Amino acid sequence: MDLADWAQDTARTILEEPLPRRWAHTQSVAAQARTISPILGRDADLLTAAAWLHDVGYAPRLARTGFHPLDGARYLRDVEHADQSLCRLVAHHSGALAEAEERGLVDELSREFRPARRDLTAALIFCDMTTGPNGQRIAVEQRLTDIRARYAPGHPVSKAIARSAPQLTAAVTCVTSALASHPRPQHRQRRVPAGVLAGAS
Ligand SMILES: [Fe+2]
Repeated sequence: MDLADWAQDTARTILEEPLPRRWAHTQSVAAQARTISPILGRDADLLTAAAWLHDVGYAPRLARTGFHPLDGARYLRDVEHADQSLCRLVAHHSGALAEAEERGLVDELSREFRPARRDLTAALIFCDMTTGPNGQRIAVEQRLTDIRARYAPGHPVSKAIARSAPQLTAAVTCVTSALASHPRPQHRQRRVPAGVLAGAS
């Protein structure tokens, strides 16, 4: 069983029954990760695993702080003994640092989990921010609008998303252009150099 298959089984066990809507979203985020695997090369399995697991911290049985990137990453580290790179991606996914600052958890997040690689962080942002809450494909601008609509103006998520929106949009733009310039699958596949996405996170 490869890493992504294990991640799929783990995410299903955690999310499918208690949070079916979140599970639908997660399945589509993982499918999006599969679509960008040609630009990820040997990191495709890791990124797909992170896509499966990025929201497990929402599950009631994992929630401790109420900040799902940190709760999910701690569970993966402490219970599943997951790969460090995978835990970092989950801990820092989709603008988590800004939300940690709003929640007063930035010291815990930063002390426990170093940031993930910037190109993989951008790739995970692309997958998450082009997938709606029910799993539908969605433009990043609409995704950000939907998030703002779900939280009151003073909520930490609303305040964080206002700060991280430019970074999230830039990441989606970078990955979209990397995909557009990538050779078709029938041609030899090349990994996108980390510098291509360096400005995205
Ligand atoms: Fe998500």
